[in-house]
Amino acid sequence: MDVYGIIGNPVEHSLSPPMHQAAFDHLGIDAKFVTFEADPDRIEEAFRGAEALGIDGLTVTLPFKHDAYEFVDPEESVERVGAVNTIDFTDDGPIGYNTDMTGTLRAFEHHDVELDGAKAVVVGAGGAARALAFGFEEAGADVAVANRTESKAHDLAEEVPGATGHGLDELPDLMADADVVANATSVGLESDESVAPADAWHGDCVAFDAVYKPLDTTFLTDAANAGAQTIDGAWMLLFQGVDAFETWTGEDAPVDVMNDALRAEL
Ligand code: ATR
Repeated sequence: MDVYGIIGNPVEHSLSPPMHQAAFDHLGIDAKFVTFEADPDRIEEAFRGAEALGIDGLTVTLPFKHDAYEFVDPEESVERVGAVNTIDFTDDGPIGYNTDMTGTLRAFEHHDVELDGAKAVVVGAGGAARALAFGFEEAGADVAVANRTESKAHDLAEEVPGATGHGLDELPDLMADADVVANATSVGLESDESVAPADAWHGDCVAFDAVYKPLDTTFLTDAANAGAQTIDGAWMLLFQGVDAFETWTGEDAPVDVMNDALRAEL
């Protein structure tokens, strides 16, 4: 039997196990997907242990995405992001991927949203924002980063070719001109707040929220009320998993099966 897992702290409420197990079961792959709650002080030992035990692949979640980057041989596109959320243990050693980044791009593709040439605003400057900003840039979008702590927006924008950094006071102006507005802050997580003013939305744009609890965040509801297309946070979660699954197994992931398993938990 193959063994895959998610490593993080905490991981108890992770949605990855039901999503991946459903995919393995559907395809008749003899594999088990488990959770590993690692001690942050012993994370490197944990990665080495996983490799020594012959574990086939890991999803890496908070707070270990940078530690994972240090541990693996990173894929080329991952080098800029400096964070790894997927490890494939191969005969040549552990290879690191960032499917938060590639998966988000697939989520946009799935919704027929063209990012090439689009004006994209990323709100936030933490780990999620990094994955989105680099991903959007790679897909050909013009990226603006807006963050509460403006200096962090400038720091991130300096790393992403062509990107600009802004404070939140400029968000309404940026939104007025945007084709895509993505929330990569924690605002809206288990609350009805939104980082974007309700009256700044317009119908000719796409709103994406990395927050998936709840799925119908105020950010997305306000956008929908203005006539904008919306993509909820479960799509990012789904496609980061789809990309990881395909990397590990070499098989086409059963996307609908994984989506149903995921949404059943939300
Ligand atoms: P993650 O790695 O999940 O992206 P993070 O690194 O803690 O998490 O980043 C959280 C992001 O949400 C940051 O951009 C943070 O803004 P600051 O850099 O100013 O801290 C943003 N954020 C959190 N609470 C916020 C709030 N109440 N209003 C605006 N932005 C907020």
